[in-house]
Amino acid sequence: MGSLLIEGGCTLEGEVEISGAKNAVLPILAATLLTEELCIIRRAPQLSDVRFMGRILESLGASVHFEGDTICVQSGKIHGRGDYNLIRKMRGSVCILGPLLARLGQAEVSLPGGCVIGARPIDLHLKGMEALGAAVEIKEGYVCVRAEKLVGNQVFLGGKVGPTVLGTANVMMVAALAEGQTMIESAACEPEIVDLALFLTAMGANIQGAGSPIIKIQGVRSLHGADHEVIPDRIEAATFAIAAAATRGNVKIHRARCEHLGAVLGKLREVGVSFTRERDSLHVHGNGAIGTVDVTTQPFAGFPTDVQAQMMALMTLADGISVITERIFESRFMHVSELARLGADIVIEGRATAIVKGGRQLSGAPVMASDLRASAALVIAGLVAEGKTLVKRIYHLDRGYEKIDQKLEQLGGRVIRQEGTWAKSSASPYLSSSELLGSASQLTTRKWTDRWSSKKTVLRTRYRLLWLSRVCRRHWNPFWKPPKARVLPSWKSG
Ligand code: UD1
Repeated sequence: MGSLLIEGGCTLEGEVEISGAKNAVLPILAATLLTEELCIIRRAPQLSDVRFMGRILESLGASVHFEGDTICVQSGKIHGRGDYNLIRKMRGSVCILGPLLARLGQAEVSLPGGCVIGARPIDLHLKGMEALGAAVEIKEGYVCVRAEKLVGNQVFLGGKVGPTVLGTANVMMVAALAEGQTMIESAACEPEIVDLALFLTAMGANIQGAGSPIIKIQGVRSLHGADHEVIPDRIEAATFAIAAAATRGNVKIHRARCEHLGAVLGKLREVGVSFTRERDSLHVHGNGAIGTVDVTTQPFAGFPTDVQAQMMALMTLADGISVITERIFESRFMHVSELARLGADIVIEGRATAIVKGGRQLSGAPVMASDLRASAALVIAGLVAEGKTLVKRIYHLDRGYEKIDQKLEQLGGRVIRQEGTWAKSSASPYLSSSELLGSASQLTTRKWTDRWSSKKTVLRTRYRLLWLSRVCRRHWNPFWKPPKARVLPSWKSG
């Protein structure tokens, strides 16, 4: 498993370019299933999650080609059963459900399940599809949706904590091919939803209101191929802005859309970071002391949950107390214990609040990444900590940050990637689909070798064999007698 060795105490300086948004390209790739014509997706980020989505589309019958940061997908003859072993590994893959239902009238996709950041149900996705005429059944771990005819309807997609991003994407894609008009109320307003709507519109869909809580979709008979450029990743931009502020750096972030970063920039301004907005870029000057701030995560345009961990890393440097409240996902504080290893003083109150007592000098240590954004927080903390920090399990980072080690190095960060599963592909990050299949089998083999070579497994296997041989002796050996109970010498009292 790969890791990142970071030598702290650097100041990030220079220019960096933001890649395409992971959370935009995943539903867009799923949307290519809505047509049998060729779709071209440009400026796609070169990430393991994106390659993985390519594999899912191929497993459904689509042909997928990666050329640099362009992905060409043609979903000629496809089937509607998503492979359990692929889908369960990536939560974002749930967004193939809507396009398969819309195009084929049925879909069977394994339930994506929860992940370390929370339970992550899909009840709202299913509620939306039912409202458009689909019958939903959960069978053998698969969610099966079927519809003779999909008809537009009024759908309320607000959940316990507000709208659902991928749920809105799924219902929007079904409605694009349903008969009549659909009105989604309490729709997610995230920029990634707007980007999906732009792609669907380029395919011939009729969508109005994307980016607002009410989206109206007038269904059309069929969709055609389209050529689309993915928006820049606002979470990556926010991560670099926070890293610049944390290291008291001076970084110009190209392809940062400030209109997508309002809440993050507002909080950075509050803690005393100054920045200049330019056309399509953001210049962060993090040369002053960091102040404290209270942050509550919310759906867009509120503070993004995907930037909570990085902001917490920054708050460990502020002299005083900051309160961070997580309102979107219930278990999204996995990074707290790892930040504590670096010397941070953070207390979790209840399920949703973290109190950060900042101002202590962090010092490097080996830490374990638990999820994608938690990894980014650990990298930021590692950059400011005294000494060396080893961030293990960086496959999480590779899911969402394109060449993060190279980008940080370019800014003067002392970061070394150490041997790992995806390290090979990051040297030449984009693989053709045939290479991809090759590397997938390599991965499977490596997984087995890793497993077998691990000491624990060998010991466990030895123990199991020993136990098995004892059981066999007992059952099949006619001369076997239970061992005599040993009589222990009794202690004389007195
Ligand atoms: C997307 C993003 C993820 C981001 C999240 C919130 C992608 C690939 N992922 O995830 O990076 O952190 O939005 O901005 O785009 N919920 C329900 N029922 C449902 C669906 C969701 O109760 O049917 C709840 C969830 O448990 C969570 C909240 O709604 O508490 C928001 O989840 P949602 O917006 O659906 O997250 P994703 O779309 O999965």
